[in-house]
Amino acid sequence: MVEIAVMGHGVVGSGVVEVLTTHRESIARRAHEEIDIKYILDLRDFPDSPYAEKFTKDFEVIVNDPEVHVVVEVMGGLHPAFEFTCRCMKAGKSVVTSNKELVASKGAELLKIARDHNVNFLFEASVGGGIPIIRPLHQCLAANDVIEIAGILNGTTNFILTKMIRESMPFDEALALAQKLGYAERNPEADVEGHDACRKICILASLAYGKHVYPDQVHTEGISSISLADVEYADNWGGVIKLIGQVKKQESGKLQIIVCPMFVPGDSQLSSVDDVFNGILVRGDATGDVVFYGKGAGKLPTASAVVADVIDCVKHFASRKYLFWEDGSKDYVEDYMEDSVSMYVRASSDDVSLALMNADKLFEGVTRLVRRNADTREFAFVTKKMPEKDIHANLKALSKLGVDVLNTIRLGDF
Ligand code: HSE
Repeated sequence: MVEIAVMGHGVVGSGVVEVLTTHRESIARRAHEEIDIKYILDLRDFPDSPYAEKFTKDFEVIVNDPEVHVVVEVMGGLHPAFEFTCRCMKAGKSVVTSNKELVASKGAELLKIARDHNVNFLFEASVGGGIPIIRPLHQCLAANDVIEIAGILNGTTNFILTKMIRESMPFDEALALAQKLGYAERNPEADVEGHDACRKICILASLAYGKHVYPDQVHTEGISSISLADVEYADNWGGVIKLIGQVKKQESGKLQIIVCPMFVPGDSQLSSVDDVFNGILVRGDATGDVVFYGKGAGKLPTASAVVADVIDCVKHFASRKYLFWEDGSKDYVEDYMEDSVSMYVRASSDDVSLALMNADKLFEGVTRLVRRNADTREFAFVTKKMPEKDIHANLKALSKLGVDVLNTIRLGDF
């Protein structure tokens, strides 16, 4: 029998307890050991819980109990999750986490502590909820040079965008529904403004390229500026708007990495990833495109990935499973303004024909997009591929010629 502790009894934590309890026998068969939850750490009281006797508010009880070999960290947030994780590993306990913020900010440091103390630090649930992606990227695709990763990495924003696209549902209503269904972060700004997706692409980039990418190195935009007008223009362009996290390695060795809404062409595999589902495309030099698809958020899908890591820890007490990447560096990420992109632009002007003529001149040719019922002052176009800094300079020049730029969205090419 292996004793474990679960720190945090929120959506994911209660899911972990549920999965470990309801699948107790099959998990024991797969882990070759029975797994018993000895403690559940939470500051709140759960007097009516069937597990009431397991609850503790005192982390010291867990870290000082030599019987506890694996600790599940599903509290979320950076502090005290970071300090607790460090102390557990230094006390010889393996740690499994679903905490994206923790891995994206402190992954290199925590992986080193795990190695130094001969324990495991596993985080399959930190990216893609129930989708297996960390292990496949680290192990199954290990023979490849990863050319590019592009993913829909946030279930909440994908759910909101899908409601906007398919049902013309207002943004706030769709967000409230996502929160009710337990998809959103405690602070939904992390979902809506792209920070959650940013943490996930940082984890994937760190794993794929072996060096830590920190969230503050990644240009990140969310979906709060997307309107139903943009959704309609995307449809007329032949695609849909998705929040994408993308990373590519340049020949210089620097990474090109960004999180932002993109127009995704209708023939891309990512265009049909809807609702709370996530889709992650990994382009390997040997495999070509490999796409991972599944539920990226929610209690049981995420708990499934956490429990799989617990089983892995229990099976590998004798032979540790090391994931590893080294510390990052300041100049590792290319300035996104240097990246070449095509851009969708929605704008308004008193003289649309003149504005379009000026846009055509400045960008050396644009393709106009139309939608039904647009205001007579409104117009939209897509540019050719060019460095982003040139696009911004041209838009500034256009503004000086009396054009109001209302929104811009990059065009995806995967
Ligand atoms: N809030 C996250 C999402 C949860 O919506 O994807 C899973 O990481």
